[in-house]
Amino acid sequence: MKNIALCIKNLTKIYNNKNYALRDISLNVISGDFFALLGPNGAGKTTTIGIISSLIKKTFGKIKIFDIDIDKNFSKAKYKLGIVSQEYNLNQFEKVENILFTQAGYYGLSKIFSKIRIYKLLNDLGLFKQREMIVRNLSGGMKRRLMIARSLVHNPNLLILDEPTAGLDIELRRIIWNYMYNINKNEKKTIILTTHYLEEAERLCRNVAIINKGVIIKNTSMHSLLTQLDVNTFLLEIKKPLKKFPVINGVKLKIKDSYKILLSIKKGININEIFNIFYKKKIEILSIRNKSKRLEEMFLNLIDNDK
Ligand SMILES: Nc1ncnc2c1ncn2[C@@H]1O[C@H](COP(=O)(O)OP(=O)(O)OP(=O)(O)O)[C@@H](O)[C@H]1O
Ligand SMILES: [Mg+2]
Repeated sequence: MKNIALCIKNLTKIYNNKNYALRDISLNVISGDFFALLGPNGAGKTTTIGIISSLIKKTFGKIKIFDIDIDKNFSKAKYKLGIVSQEYNLNQFEKVENILFTQAGYYGLSKIFSKIRIYKLLNDLGLFKQREMIVRNLSGGMKRRLMIARSLVHNPNLLILDEPTAGLDIELRRIIWNYMYNINKNEKKTIILTTHYLEEAERLCRNVAIINKGVIIKNTSMHSLLTQLDVNTFLLEIKKPLKKFPVINGVKLKIKDSYKILLSIKKGININEIFNIFYKKKIEILSIRNKSKRLEEMFLNLIDNDK
């Protein structure tokens, strides 16, 4: 089982003897994977991560990090594990670089090694200029990047990020995506992330688990999840408002406004034929935009069907 970075077996968490946050979940994440743990609010994602990091006590189940049972040897497992939590958990009055040096001390890293590592992380995450600032004076995006740097100080093989890009602007989200992509590709780090930005999961992650009400309802590759979707949606801009909708088998048309229509096409239907019909009916199309939010549609379908 050497190539399994994280193995969760029959994990159950009951809060206060009555609230089932996790119901017997099992999951394997292979070494080197980029894995998404998705689910609506309250699904149990943070609880799962809390148990892996030993901050939350499980009710039943087993967790292994690179084959190390965290109940038997958490102090060994923690060297392999970096966690970025959902909530900001930084000392507000500490200097940026001190946060990282304290973390290095916690893992027993030598001074000289720590300094090289920490300055590299500050550089890579665009925080070098801020290294002497007090955490309280950092922006939300800087704090998030500092938490990522802190999780990586001891160079763990498995990095788990609980909503790393929540509340960040698009540019910063991209910077963090690129950084994650690079450390997964070049440093072979296994990365697990939770996110509500499904576009992020679709772009980055090779495998995915969807959790709902404490149960894993899907665990598969991103590719096979997306190929299960059988509808593509396009936004068409038309030259003149339609008097009557053409009726085409397997195609749904919906008016957005007089000059815009949404076209939903079932997989397998020839798009050329549809445009031929438009052409014959003298409907002039000025532009086409693909509006398929593929993972989002799949996600909502799965959650709806689970109700
Ligand atoms: N300390 C606690 N005491 C009691 N119940 C809790 C506690 N922490 C979490 N829960 C409950 O456990 C369930 C799962 O919560 P969790 O925070 O794991 O969800 P999540 O998937 O991370 O949600 P979000 O996307 O909103 O962060 C929820 O019903 C939540 O109310
Ligand atoms: Mg959460």
